[in-house]
Amino acid sequence: MDVIKAITGRRSIRQYKGDPIEDGDLAEVLEAVRWAPSWANTQSWEIIIVKDPEAKRKLAGTLPAGNPACSSFNEAPVVIVACARRGKAGYFKGAAVTDKGDWYMFDVALAMQNLTLAAYARGLGTVLVGFFDAKKVAHLLNIPEDVAVVAMTPLGYPGREAKPTPRKALHDFVSYDTFGCR
Ligand SMILES: Cc1cc2nc3c(=O)[nH]c(=O)nc-3n(C[C@H](O)[C@H](O)[C@H](O)COP(=O)(O)O)c2cc1C
Repeated sequence: MDVIKAITGRRSIRQYKGDPIEDGDLAEVLEAVRWAPSWANTQSWEIIIVKDPEAKRKLAGTLPAGNPACSSFNEAPVVIVACARRGKAGYFKGAAVTDKGDWYMFDVALAMQNLTLAAYARGLGTVLVGFFDAKKVAHLLNIPEDVAVVAMTPLGYPGREAKPTPRKALHDFVSYDTFGCR
């Protein structure tokens, strides 16, 4: 699939069929993570594939009740938990080298963007989920202290097409030469 078509066509999917994911499709989606850019190629991400229905149910329980992605964790055959090793991205000889500190959020975001686009190209749905109790997830999945839980997504075949979502126009956020020159 053309990359622009994937970028513009992908939508967050919150309803899923329970059908299992073809092994080749899952491998390809994970391969897309592998090729994401990262700070000094540190590749600080850690990905956990959760298929066990009981574990997925418990992960769904870490989302607040109002989170619209709640039920999708039980519906989809797989939940992906994206984590990162702390103190790698943005660090040189153990010290943070920019005013941003640890860049793991950035690296994991790029990895997950690759994942969501590769999934879409294979007919699979995703919805990035950031609003959940990361401490509970870390406890449930035995994630060590030096690994941050960043985001999750269900992964599976869409149960329903998602509605298009609005976007700002370019002139609302693009400046030329100096900030604010639209
Ligand atoms: C960092 C991040 C966190 C998000 N967290 C949630 C979430 O907790 N629950 C949810 O239903 N959607 C979540 N989303 C999905 C956004 O709501 C969605 O991407 C946005 O509304 C645009 O819709 P689209 O993805 O269909 O284009 C999150 C997206 C991002 C990038």
